[in-house]
Amino acid sequence: MGYRGISDFRSDTVTRPTEEMRKAMYNAEVGDDVLGDDPTVKKLEEIAAETTGMEAALFVPSGTMGNTIAVILGSKEGTEIILEEKCHIYNFEAANMARYASAMPRPIKSKNGEIPVEEIKANIKTVLREHIPGTSMICLENTHNFWGGSVLSMDYIKEVKEIAKENNLHFHLDGARVFNAATYLNTEVKNITKHFDSVMFCLSKGLCAPVGSMLAGNKDFISKARFIRKSLGGGMRQAGILAAAGIVSIEKMSKRLEEDHIRAKKLAEGIADLKGIKVDLDSVQTNFVMVELEEMTSFRFLEELKKESVLALPFSEKRVRFVTHNDIDDRDIERAVKSIRKILLER
Ligand SMILES: Cc1ncc(COP(=O)(O)O)c(C=O)c1O
Repeated sequence: MGYRGISDFRSDTVTRPTEEMRKAMYNAEVGDDVLGDDPTVKKLEEIAAETTGMEAALFVPSGTMGNTIAVILGSKEGTEIILEEKCHIYNFEAANMARYASAMPRPIKSKNGEIPVEEIKANIKTVLREHIPGTSMICLENTHNFWGGSVLSMDYIKEVKEIAKENNLHFHLDGARVFNAATYLNTEVKNITKHFDSVMFCLSKGLCAPVGSMLAGNKDFISKARFIRKSLGGGMRQAGILAAAGIVSIEKMSKRLEEDHIRAKKLAEGIADLKGIKVDLDSVQTNFVMVELEEMTSFRFLEELKKESVLALPFSEKRVRFVTHNDIDDRDIERAVKSIRKILLER
């Protein structure tokens, strides 16, 4: 049952580091990573490079910093970045592309996180006139947070890669949850990430590390990224303490994500028949369940749910998100199903 008796479905970011991580952190060999001599950070970066099929990787404090560095290096001042309208980089990263890259978003609508290819092509500006900002970069998100943890198809990624290549655009993946995508597709992470010029993935979400994300790319990109990380205040000293947990994340915790996906499906199936809500079972691909409320507001629903020691996150006035993770077991799912049924049937 969830931590301290609470079934916390708000996000996979609430996961606590495991016993094995805590031991690895305690025993970690460390150095000064800004001076380049922390062996545990180096090991984590090597593992991350190998895992993503990239030449090199960099340990960064957060996913936001990883994406921000990618945007600074991948775009050019006064240019546009094509991204999906509801993506994290555009909506939830404190306007960093404007602040630090002096670049403009070119957000494009989609129904599931896959920006229609024709729309991408139509929005690339290569013929420059003095008043038109050209396009410098395309960003995709996989899995897609807003669209309920949806997974981009491999064919789609390959198609967009070709477009990026033809137009000489930097191709970045916000892969905060790319291990969930790989689990869903029953493939290795590198089969997804190798198509991109850069990729960010998070250690501190479903992979349970207390802190940290990885940015991967070619050697030149990562050496420049190291410089930008320092300028943003992300140079950490005895960071091996944190990297030790990250190694357990990649080597061990990535192997158990299927359990979260099965539990998310179980939760969705347990409430899909209820009147007053809509749950699209087909859209539950990974560890998210999006619930559309037909009558109640999210606020009211979550207030009632909290009384049953179940937490979830409001996504809009009528949309609530449940996320499964390592601190959610079968009893938490049973409790959530029972509580949601009680709230909706007893109204
Ligand atoms: C898709 C996606 N990208 C990036 C991030 C940013 O990660 P962080 O919270 O570590 O900055 C998140 C965080 O929720 C996310 O869901």
